Amino acid sequence: MKQSRMSIVVGAIALGLSTAAFASPASVALAQAVKEGAHIFNTDSFGSHEQNFHGRHTTCSTCHIDGGRIMGRLPNGKRIPSLVNAVAIFPRYNPKMHKVITLETQIRSCVRNGLLGHPPAYGSQTMADLVSYLGSLAHGQRVMIGGMPR
Ligand code: HEC
Repeated sequence: MKQSRMSIVVGAIALGLSTAAFASPASVALAQAVKEGAHIFNTDSFGSHEQNFHGRHTTCSTCHIDGGRIMGRLPNGKRIPSLVNAVAIFPRYNPKMHKVITLETQIRSCVRNGLLGHPPAYGSQTMADLVSYLGSLAHGQRVMIGGMPR
């Protein structure tokens, strides 16, 4: 009896510790934002009525293939960078806008000009989720503002 109560206590402490280490409210929230960001990246058309070759709604993943992990090309041959280090190389100078822009501004530009949709607002949950997803792709990479896409 005594022993089983003891093992329950030990078990409860172990569970408490592992929960604290691996599933704190902060890490759960971040994992959720990354997951939500991936979902948005692959499914959200941001109100656009554009369709891809297969008659599906255009999303980020129409152009940024394999979840943004590999480089692609637009039909006109223009290079579409991989997004594996995007979070690490912004802010960057944008030659077309003639100014330094943040990752959020780049995302809004892709929604407006690539998707022909309504860009998510700065500071919105959608923006935070997308940036969290892109951050997960670049996790561990060296920050090099102004750098080149890989
Ligand atoms: C119609 C194709 C297209 C769509 C759709 C698109 N993008 Fe892009 N994206 C591009 C191209 C082309 C570039 C290269 C820079 C430029 O022309 O703005 C780019 C650049 C980027 C970059 C900067 C990468 C770097 O390291 O330079 C990010 C980040 C990005 N896109 C995110 C997104 C997100 C998030 C979405 C969906 C909300 C999206 N894009 C939708 C074509 C697209």
